[in-house]
Amino acid sequence: MNVEEIFASYRGAVPRYTSYPTAPHFADLNGAGIEKQALLDIETGEPVSLYVHVPFCDRLCWFCGCHTKHTLKYAPVAAYIGSLITEMQTVAKTAGRKLPLAHLHFGGGSPSMLCEEDFHRLSEALRENFDISDQTEISVEFDPSDVTEATLRGAAVLGVTRASVGVQDFDSAVQKAINRPQTFEQTRDVIAALRGAGVGSVNIDALYGLPLQTRDRLEATIDQVLTLRPDRIALFGYAHVPWVKKHQTMIREADLPGTLDRFHHAAYAADMIANRGYDRIGIDHFALPDDDLAVAAHSGRLYRNFQGYTTDACRTLIGLGASAISFFGTSYVQNIVATKQYENAVQSGNLAGMRGVRLNMDDRVRAHIIERLMCDFALSFADLEDKFGYLARPYEAEARALAAADPHKLVETNEIGITIKPEARAFTRIVASWFDAYLDTGEVRYSKAV
Ligand SMILES: C[S@@+](CC[C@H](N)C(=O)[O-])C[C@H]1O[C@@H](n2cnc3c(N)ncnc32)[C@H](O)[C@@H]1O
Ligand code: SF4
Repeated sequence: MNVEEIFASYRGAVPRYTSYPTAPHFADLNGAGIEKQALLDIETGEPVSLYVHVPFCDRLCWFCGCHTKHTLKYAPVAAYIGSLITEMQTVAKTAGRKLPLAHLHFGGGSPSMLCEEDFHRLSEALRENFDISDQTEISVEFDPSDVTEATLRGAAVLGVTRASVGVQDFDSAVQKAINRPQTFEQTRDVIAALRGAGVGSVNIDALYGLPLQTRDRLEATIDQVLTLRPDRIALFGYAHVPWVKKHQTMIREADLPGTLDRFHHAAYAADMIANRGYDRIGIDHFALPDDDLAVAAHSGRLYRNFQGYTTDACRTLIGLGASAISFFGTSYVQNIVATKQYENAVQSGNLAGMRGVRLNMDDRVRAHIIERLMCDFALSFADLEDKFGYLARPYEAEARALAAADPHKLVETNEIGITIKPEARAFTRIVASWFDAYLDTGEVRYSKAV
């Protein structure tokens, strides 16, 4: 396998496939109407998942690709929490009951910047409008620079079971180039405090492909991350999309590692993590062997959603907050993106869905193929037929034809299905993109494939 040739022959930019069709292919539609019907259609007793988006941060990291706004004033954040609570009430009223929650995730932005009182308000409103049990997984993204005693008390009230802690890189030169100062000691103490406050599981996010990152610098960061023994590690490739995120223009492109360096850095860091007893999960996650994510990966029960890899098998994911995306089995609905407009809509008693896509049968089959490739590095024809019956046949033929036509022989084919070769797993997004019917339609630009 010649890595340079593979890079040369692909355009080098493909989606991360946290959904299919991907968000840039969502269109304006009656999102609130679809959401209303979907909420009415949820079967009694069926557990659902909830994603709550907090689009605020008290710092602005130049690498950031998330939907967030830098603010040093707290008043807009407190007002926004009020809108989130109103949206929860509207969802519960529309569904006609308190829906049982299997997973509840707070992402952002930085939900960790909430004050203690707002953790209380949210916790109370969630319990009033949804059925939360001690089986509900409650996860929150934490920026260590936010965490105080009050944050820890707030997290305890909410009942956080998993903390996702942003590290990115510990090297001071890299941190300067991305405007994210954060010491190892600060991170270590925050993780110890979270564990002390009863948070049972910790994930750490690290990035490769950052400006001024070298193999040695990344190695030092990963070494430090490993001393913290998180239950999970996400090692994401930095997505440089300055045409979408204007603040990324603060990053000097001359400082970014080239495509081949990115590839070698990622492989080196992944080997380091795996050699220290972590299982490799999908393209960019790692978990201790007894962690739920590792157990799910070994039994074909790993899934992919907007947070990346997940054990969440619910058919329905309800997204709350500005820009949050819901999945209702056969449709994606995204809430109004602009925070003020979102708040106006929910304060008027409306659901906030606006854009999205209804999946036709072709979308559904392709979504399943892409999810299995991203999670299992393989597609089983029997599994496809189990799910889609005779409709699966043309896709099996397509898979065989695509595999045969691939000059780089990234996959192996037999009567069972297709499998991405172990040495080609870094190119999984490329193999998934073979099945993407939208890839060549439109002007959408994505970040690097590896
Ligand atoms: C919402 S942010 C993290 C939460 C928290 N605000 C923090 O920074 O610690 C979630 C994660 O997305 C990842 N991320 C953000 N921008 C990215 C980009 N441009 N490319 C790849 N990953 C990115 C980072 O690893 C980050 O920890
Ligand atoms: S990385 Fe986290 S703290 Fe930094 S701007 Fe993005 S969401 Fe905010």
